[in-house]
Amino acid sequence: MSVPLPLPPLLFVDDERNMRLSLETIMADAGYDVRAVESAEEGFKLLRQNDFFMVITDARLGGMSGYELLKQIRTHWPQMPVLIITAYATPKLAVEAIKAGAIDYLAKPFEPEELLHAVERCAERHRLLLENAALRAQAGEIYRVDQIIGESPKMKALRQLIQTVAPTNATVLILGESGTGKELIAGALHCLSQRRDQSYIRINCAAIPETLLESELFGHEKGSFTGALRQKVGRVEEANHGTIFLDEIGDMSRPLQAKLLRFLEDGTFTRVGGNQELRVDVRLIAATNRDIIKAIGLNQFREDLFHRLNVVQFHPPPLRERGQDILLLAEHFLRHFDVVTNKAIKRLSRGAQQKLLAHHWPGNVRELRNVMERAVILESSAEVQPESLPDFHLETLLRKAGPSQPPAEGSLEDSLANYERELILRTLEHHSFNLHKTADQLGISRHALRYRIHRLNIDTGESFDEEAALPTGKEPA
Ligand SMILES: Nc1ncnc2c1ncn2[C@@H]1O[C@H](COP(=O)(O)OP(=O)(O)OP(=O)(O)O)[C@@H](O)[C@H]1O
Ligand SMILES: [Mg+2]
Repeated sequence: MSVPLPLPPLLFVDDERNMRLSLETIMADAGYDVRAVESAEEGFKLLRQNDFFMVITDARLGGMSGYELLKQIRTHWPQMPVLIITAYATPKLAVEAIKAGAIDYLAKPFEPEELLHAVERCAERHRLLLENAALRAQAGEIYRVDQIIGESPKMKALRQLIQTVAPTNATVLILGESGTGKELIAGALHCLSQRRDQSYIRINCAAIPETLLESELFGHEKGSFTGALRQKVGRVEEANHGTIFLDEIGDMSRPLQAKLLRFLEDGTFTRVGGNQELRVDVRLIAATNRDIIKAIGLNQFREDLFHRLNVVQFHPPPLRERGQDILLLAEHFLRHFDVVTNKAIKRLSRGAQQKLLAHHWPGNVRELRNVMERAVILESSAEVQPESLPDFHLETLLRKAGPSQPPAEGSLEDSLANYERELILRTLEHHSFNLHKTADQLGISRHALRYRIHRLNIDTGESFDEEAALPTGKEPA
């Protein structure tokens, strides 16, 4: 049985003392807790400090009007229901109030039942919202760590470490190749922490232009740079009491690294163009797929920042080091896409299993996920056949062509161009010059492929087969 969640008080704003008294009595009789104030300014102040489940406000007030208060509430607490009451009701005003986001509009004098009815609806809605949040949090606890598939010793240890570290406030650094599940780990850490009901803010440092990242993180004051028309609250402020996940931190510029270091040391920061020192309470999780030690050696990453971040380190292993987990994950994605596409593919054939186990997986779990999505689309039997998996041969060649080959003559650019030409030509031949399949296999768009063919002066013979639709699953011999 579930215990009803406690309801925070209701905020009532009216400059008439008698109205405040009578509403307090009606609400108290119905079991509601009320905070009554006589001005919108006071109401606004209380809203900043306390939690309320709804606001009832008179339209005409001494200073700021009820409508202005409504507008403020819509900006700062978009979820908060606001009911407007007025002695000067006109249909036009009523429509305007509802348009401005009021949930209801009552004309004075009103029957207590009318008001109680509206309040009851808001209370019910609030309870539902709370219950949903609580359910989500509970589900998160069981679900998120479960979502990290893998029974290899390293993956078991990783899940265990998540459970241990999540409830602490420790800063976490996640280092791992692309596609190894860094985001998944960060999400699980937040969902299992005491902060799970607070915000979880994720910033991809590589995706935001360097010049904007600082203001994104720490906010800016109005006029601090061209285009800063308004004051902006930074993401660290939004994350207050919650968790902030700085993804691709290896791509952060050195000046910003210094600012981040200071923030980590004492939780303080200033907005861009501001001088007021602000302080928040956030937990920081950072991740990168770059070789951070090398970046330190190259003076691209501050060593002191590394030590600050490196309180607890997570190291999701590359997929090729996870043994049979490859098959577990493949089956997991198979089930997932099977349901999504409404097919009835039951399992992996032996041949497919062998092919999956033999591959090197440079793109790790993300690559496996894509491979399985493609396989489910292509497969027409009840088992995934090796033919529905990509031809990993070329990728293997790519890997072998790596450091073990004798150094090429000429400049890096020329060698790369030669290699690119060779690879594209071979892939084209393999697919009988079908552009679609070739682009698909190389993981680039057809447009990009055509551009490269042109730039590298690749002789494609007469014409290539542009029209052939989706791959059929049968590779040409
Ligand atoms: N152990 C796992 N179990 C199930 N799914 C996983 C696992 N690891 C990763 N995935 C899935 O693989 C995909 C890639 O994972 P994720 O985005 O977390 O990688 P990443 O390490 O952040 O990669 P990048 O460095 O490229 O950002 C996601 O769809 C994720 O859900
Ligand atoms: Mg990622």
